[in-house]
Amino acid sequence: MRKLVIAALLAAPSLVMAWPWSQDMMNQPSIKPQEGQPYPMLKRSIPVQGIPTTVANRDEAKGLVNPTPATAESIDNGRTLFKIYCSACHGLTGKADSPVSPKIGAISLVDSYVQETLTPGWIWGTITFGSYVMPAYGVPKANAQSRGSNDLSVQERWDVVNYVRNGLVNDANQAM
Ligand code: HEC
Repeated sequence: MRKLVIAALLAAPSLVMAWPWSQDMMNQPSIKPQEGQPYPMLKRSIPVQGIPTTVANRDEAKGLVNPTPATAESIDNGRTLFKIYCSACHGLTGKADSPVSPKIGAISLVDSYVQETLTPGWIWGTITFGSYVMPAYGVPKANAQSRGSNDLSVQERWDVVNYVRNGLVNDANQAM
């Protein structure tokens, strides 16, 4: 008798799936795999082909004319994106004053090198293709060193350029 009970207990797990309550969790209103139309993917949740960029590298981007006027709207959008994407390394003020800045050699973006010497196209190209240490935000695989996120659209990258050149210095001075 005892042996029978043990044998029955050992066999029990294989019967578990057959018990009426074993599918309780499955029978719920959620949509099951292959059931009905899938929900449309959220915009940009899967970048299948990436965001089109018409130049091949930073050198080609250097002479690009900024097609986006530096309106208050563009600068505001650029400011928001800068805080999200750039401040970790370049600092909220752009002065390379984040805790990470010295560790990776992020440069100040308020100095004349970025404010005057670099062309807007080059700054856009740096955001797009990355630099030596800096990651890419437009074409992540263009440069072996520049791992990036392919996160910013062409337009958003110009908004960031507009902010870097037309809002950052002002913001940094006010922050002092
Ligand atoms: C992960 C850190 C990191 C992030 C995030 C980052 N940068 Fe950089 N950036 C660097 C470093 C480090 C350098 C200097 C070394 C190099 O050129 O890679 C640099 C250099 C630059 C340069 C100068 C390029 C040159 O030709 O000398 C510009 C302009 C710039 N960054 C702008 C930005 C903007 C705008 C963003 C946000 C979209 C951003 N960076 C985000 C790390 C970063």
